[in-house]
Amino acid sequence: MYHYTVLSRYQSTAVSRLVSLYLCWLTHRLLCWYFPIKFTDKGSDMIYLIANTKGGVGKTTIAVHLAAWLAKKGKCLLIDADKQASAASWSSWRKDLDLKHNPRTMILLDDSVYKEGREFVREYDNTVIDAGGRDDPGMRYAMVLADKLIVPMSHSDLDTSAWSDMQKIIEMSKPSNPNLEVHVLLSRIDPRRRPPKDIYEFMAEQKTAIFKTIITERVIYVNSTNKGMTVFETEPDSPAAKDMKALFKELSHPIFLG
Ligand SMILES: Nc1ncnc2c1ncn2[C@@H]1O[C@H](COP(=O)(O)OP(=O)(O)OP(=O)(O)O)[C@@H](O)[C@H]1O
Ligand SMILES: [Mg+2]
Repeated sequence: MYHYTVLSRYQSTAVSRLVSLYLCWLTHRLLCWYFPIKFTDKGSDMIYLIANTKGGVGKTTIAVHLAAWLAKKGKCLLIDADKQASAASWSSWRKDLDLKHNPRTMILLDDSVYKEGREFVREYDNTVIDAGGRDDPGMRYAMVLADKLIVPMSHSDLDTSAWSDMQKIIEMSKPSNPNLEVHVLLSRIDPRRRPPKDIYEFMAEQKTAIFKTIITERVIYVNSTNKGMTVFETEPDSPAAKDMKALFKELSHPIFLG
């Protein structure tokens, strides 16, 4: 009888805890439904930032391909946070081509990347931010807003030394955005050379995720983006299109290589 009483008390406490947890969750869902801006976080499903303090590593090329890919799946916003506005130029050339999947593009610089960007992203399923090739306020503000940071890097000593600058900046953004996921991406790699094993080893030592997919150096990227297109549209069966496709598949499950 004694055992029975203790057990039932324990059970009733557990049940009442479960019920209150369920009620809390239900209240949260209802509040989110009624007041999406106030109670949900950033709104956009995923905010990708393509950044590196090193210039010319393929950031804009990757950003516009990702934005066009995501525009196929839903509403996508492409934020050009670079004064050079290359992503915005790509978008304006694209408009004249009357292509199907077009991300909405806007230029936001410096603190407006965060201050205005965080309001705009709510209206989109996904957001891609293309940062400039230097350490500037726009890149730092974008790091506060983003969920995933992709750092394109080529296989050169200059690029690996630029990585230590990036690491410092990423570290500084952590108090404002502790959940920022960082992934290195090898970009503009000579397709005739073997995969650069040393970089994978280096990143494993640094405990940094690196994509298995490598974006190789292919002239089709230049020819496509200079027209406001993607390699999916110009040469869908090309090795470049296969690489980009593999990258976007991997994006949801990046592989940590050691
Ligand atoms: N994988 C690639 N293969 C061949 N050319 C490429 C590749 N990626 C980019 N390029 C070319 O290299 C140049 C620089 O690329 P991109 O503008 O994408 O780099 P970025 O990192 O955005 O540069 P910046 O730092 O100036 O913003 C462009 O002419 C682009 O077409
Ligand atoms: Mg660029």
